[in-house]
Amino acid sequence: MTQHSSAPATGTAPAVRTDASGAPAGWWRDAVIYQVYPRSFADGNGDGMGDLAGVRARLPYLADLGVDAVWLSPFYASPQADAGYDVADYRAIDPMFGDLHDADALIRDAHELGLRIIVDLVPNHSSDQHEWFQRALREGPGSPLRDRYHFRPGRGPKGEEPPNDWESIFGGPAWTRTENPDGTPGEWYLHLFAPEQPDFNWENEAVRDEFRSVLRFWLDMGVDGFRIDVAHGLVKAAGLPDMGRAGQLKLLGNQVLPFFDQDGVHEIYRSWRRILDEYPGERIGVAEAWTPSPERTALYLRADELHQAFNFHYLNTAWNAEALREVIDQSLDSMRPVGAPTTWVLSNHDVVRHRTRLGGGLARARAASLLMLALPGSAYVYQGEELGLPEVADLPDEVRQDPSFFKDNGQDGLRDGCRVPIPWTRAGSSHGFGSGGSWLPQPGQWAELSVEEQTGDPTSTLELYRSALAVRREHPALGAGESVQWLEDFPAGVLAFRRRAADGSGRDLICTANTTDRPVELSAAPGRALLASGEYEGGAIPADTTVWWEV
Ligand code: NOJ
Repeated sequence: MTQHSSAPATGTAPAVRTDASGAPAGWWRDAVIYQVYPRSFADGNGDGMGDLAGVRARLPYLADLGVDAVWLSPFYASPQADAGYDVADYRAIDPMFGDLHDADALIRDAHELGLRIIVDLVPNHSSDQHEWFQRALREGPGSPLRDRYHFRPGRGPKGEEPPNDWESIFGGPAWTRTENPDGTPGEWYLHLFAPEQPDFNWENEAVRDEFRSVLRFWLDMGVDGFRIDVAHGLVKAAGLPDMGRAGQLKLLGNQVLPFFDQDGVHEIYRSWRRILDEYPGERIGVAEAWTPSPERTALYLRADELHQAFNFHYLNTAWNAEALREVIDQSLDSMRPVGAPTTWVLSNHDVVRHRTRLGGGLARARAASLLMLALPGSAYVYQGEELGLPEVADLPDEVRQDPSFFKDNGQDGLRDGCRVPIPWTRAGSSHGFGSGGSWLPQPGQWAELSVEEQTGDPTSTLELYRSALAVRREHPALGAGESVQWLEDFPAGVLAFRRRAADGSGRDLICTANTTDRPVELSAAPGRALLASGEYEGGAIPADTTVWWEV
């Protein structure tokens, strides 16, 4: 069989729980959330840069794909030192993306189509062009405005050494020295990321008040939730102690550090949860929290804190049956005590696309995706993975924009390669991305990977995602859940588990993922094949292939 799904057998429809406003309860427990990177999704005005009008025009594509919600990376007013993760005004849209009317129209249209909208909130740092930071610089040492960030005198006789040994995630010291209003060398300020991204001081009440107000601003605009950038970074260890170690910190890493995952962050999220809960329709908070373990991540998801967190432990796991089983178990086990859904993610705008990263080309990427979509909980899909896009590893240096690329000994600087604009059509200067080229060049072969080319082709990756999401939506054994039942009776290298139908219909589902690079014979088919990530005609399961079976 090809990847086509067979007609679903009819069963008892699951009872729909509703919240006080009549909306279905717990929509986020099994939601498939699609990440739009606004610069690179669709360009509505032909300037070569994606924008909100472009996203709005493509919403029917997302509804048709079958996702539940759309998370948009930042579109706020920003000098773009870190592609919008340096926000100068949290209540304004950057003109390159549109204006507040565009945002309003986008949110309304999405809701009409049954899609929820999640926006990115960046509370760990602002842009250095943010009015607060600019005023703090102008007013000089001693100004109370400086307390909203981390300004400190330097060490050494003339204050010429940074205040402590913290390193920026993008490379180099996490401190930059300022100049006093009279031109003399002044205090230093902390930036865990680029120098253009000064860290807020969350001990300062004005910072806390401001973000509660920003939350309300966007909730009043109608958004359904927030993805919280660097959620683990807001509170720093008292006294800003040295970290006492050298070596480049990793993006999405899991080290124990005095500026990450401090216990003080949790009271912030408790106060945010109270605000989210004031609004109807279950507005959610999703933590981007890099923590040392899934257990530490679970703390962000206690009943009175946030709803979900990205599972970077899963993203960082190699394509290996044993390692996958271990991380899946650990992820589910750690969420169970707090009652939060486990989430699954393979790609985003900060990592090498999983088609390339997992090292097995398109077949392995498709197998990994089908495995992910069978796991209990909520899943994240990064724009373009449904097309099977690979990482663009050979971008010329002159077009790169990732700040980490420009740092000696910084991150590998490869983040531009997963941010190349989406090919919508075979032809056109930017394959339908827009009428004015694209800010990062698309490889010529991307015509073959375009939405136009793949639509209607039952063997395409796009149709695999469409089928998988349709089955997932309808099937009583898929979506929300707290556990899987591992099946031991399969050859080495085949990850196999059963999921029980939640509606008592007995329509269980078995997922088998052959993670090896050779075909594997099963002693017997475990059920009726519903969907396969590769060519499966009965008999051996091909290398790097996942099959869903109805039992
Ligand atoms: C995580 C974001 O995903 C990344 O793109 C950004 O550079 C850092 N946070 C800093 O905001």
